[in-house]
Amino acid sequence: MIKHKDHFHGSDLEKIEKIYGIKKEDIISFSANVNPLGISPRLREKIASEIDCITTYPDRDYVTLRQSIADYCNTEIENIIVGNGSTELISLFIQIKEPKKAMILGPTYSEYEREISLGGGKTIYYPLREDNDYVLDVNHFISKLSEDIDLLVICNPNNPTGTAINNHDMRLILDACKECDIFVMVDETYVEFAENIKEISSVPLTRTYGNIVILRGTSKFFAAPGLRLGYAICSDADLMQTMNRRKDPWTINSIAVVAGTIMFSDSEYIEATRKLITTERNRMYDLFKKSSRFKPYKPQGNFMLLQIMEDGLTSQELFDRCIKEGLMIRDCSTFPYLGENYIRFCFMNPEDNDKLAAILLK
Ligand SMILES: Cc1ncc(COP(=O)(O)O)c(C=O)c1O
Repeated sequence: MIKHKDHFHGSDLEKIEKIYGIKKEDIISFSANVNPLGISPRLREKIASEIDCITTYPDRDYVTLRQSIADYCNTEIENIIVGNGSTELISLFIQIKEPKKAMILGPTYSEYEREISLGGGKTIYYPLREDNDYVLDVNHFISKLSEDIDLLVICNPNNPTGTAINNHDMRLILDACKECDIFVMVDETYVEFAENIKEISSVPLTRTYGNIVILRGTSKFFAAPGLRLGYAICSDADLMQTMNRRKDPWTINSIAVVAGTIMFSDSEYIEATRKLITTERNRMYDLFKKSSRFKPYKPQGNFMLLQIMEDGLTSQELFDRCIKEGLMIRDCSTFPYLGENYIRFCFMNPEDNDKLAAILLK
């Protein structure tokens, strides 16, 4: 086993190439959580003929793009702001809110805490409990909210646990937060993969709640992390105005504008993605549930978290076994609350999933 201190993000293929001597083109990333179907066929067909779009500046207000996002999400254009990936919007939003004390449901994506601490804020984690399979106990959680907290961050479905909060529970959280004057940021990067998206997405709640901002992107579901196109949905007009004022102009390039407009309307591709992920999610969960080596947590997104139950077997050892076969999984030991016995992988094409399962279950 190669001993290394590095932990790899799904985008660290160059690092892997150096350490393991495997060409990055030969690696299948089960770690980046990107749609295995690749980009929308309609986008592939049309984008080349649109290339002259880069000869002009994009529309500063991004009206056409925001309208296609509003149609896709079933909301109004006034509620949409676009960004250079959801990352720009997470950062911008936290810079504007300047939370002194933020609460994050963990374990989760690390970028929220990083941004909060860059602004000088303090983060406290509310831990999702393993003995409840990382599903939130909403009443207990609400009892821990207090007026000294100014921001709550929820990733829904959550990376890396794959668990999700439904609309009923989200309403309870938003009501409790309203009473304590807490703003809620919900990262819905993975929501479009959920079978019951209508019960999980908080977009309809923005009609009645002003204390929520939802973040989404095209990196995962539309397999376009290199395009850097994200968006936020929020009905607080003052906050939207402040975000627009603070944002650098033209951070979304003209190709992303054209690409976004095309792919949000490719309903055949959207349907095919949802169908593939639902089938593979059910199949892989059932398969790993039968194994005594792993405990899988019921996933709602396009990836699954597993606890390694076999004594002495670590996440790094499994990472090593898989990468030697060209398959890159996520060693979860860097996530808060997860030790050396957790791995995560996303659902790829059926043959690749079979290959990974064979290695992990051997
Ligand atoms: C939960 C979550 N939010 C946001 C991001 C970043 O997304 P984007 O590429 O849209 O900036 C990631 C990337 O891994 C993620 O897992």
